[in-house]
Amino acid sequence: MTLETERLILRPWEESDAEACYQYARDPLVGPAAGWPAHTSVENSRQVIREFLMVPETYAIVLKETGLPVGSIGLHHNDLAKEANEAELGYWIGVPYWGRGLVPEAAKEVLRHAFEDLKLIRVWCAYYDGNTKSKRVQEKLGFTHQWTTESVPVPQMGEIRKGHVNLMTRDEWLRISKEKSEQE
Ligand SMILES: CC(C)(COP(=O)(O)OP(=O)(O)OC[C@H]1O[C@@H](n2cnc3c(N)ncnc32)[C@H](O)[C@@H]1OP(=O)(O)O)[C@@H](O)C(=O)NCCC(=O)NCCS
Repeated sequence: MTLETERLILRPWEESDAEACYQYARDPLVGPAAGWPAHTSVENSRQVIREFLMVPETYAIVLKETGLPVGSIGLHHNDLAKEANEAELGYWIGVPYWGRGLVPEAAKEVLRHAFEDLKLIRVWCAYYDGNTKSKRVQEKLGFTHQWTTESVPVPQMGEIRKGHVNLMTRDEWLRISKEKSEQE
């Protein structure tokens, strides 16, 4: 499955993306904020692509301008999103591309896909305390705060952190989409 926005193509990851992935995922400002360690080599990125990124509903964020992946976005099932009709949204993008609204642009399309095509009824989105950039993305998308947990295990980092959980329901998404189309 490939999705498209004004500036982006969202397409499945491929092993041949390893070098591009490493270029951004090696930066300690990226993965640790999301709960995974910075990649250590191109081979490490290839392994992560094979094990974690080449899965259904995870997309490489590819800039139309260059044709290269600069980040990742996906819908996942986990402890937060256990049922078949719900998912958790996760994302990251390389530091040189921060602040251009690219992840919100990608996320809007992934949310449309989630609610319209996959017929999900709930999309969760969480962030660790202090990740104001991700908090801001979720606010801009229209997610609403559900609860905060003082001690969330972050297994890949061997840490315990405070976490905030947000939600968007299908009804909220429909309302946001309607308001947007009325403004246009
Ligand atoms: C969180 C993240 C995905 C945001 O993506 P993005 O495409 O830059 O999103 P936006 O352009 O909408 O920027 C979001 C906020 O980040 C902040 N920001 C933007 N550029 C920044 C920069 N260069 N340095 C510091 N903060 C910056 C701003 O507060 C911005 O909010 P604003 O639009 O109200 O000004 C990105 O910062 C990232 O990949 N971070 C590391 C991984 C991560 O935290 N993933 C999410 C885990 S829950």
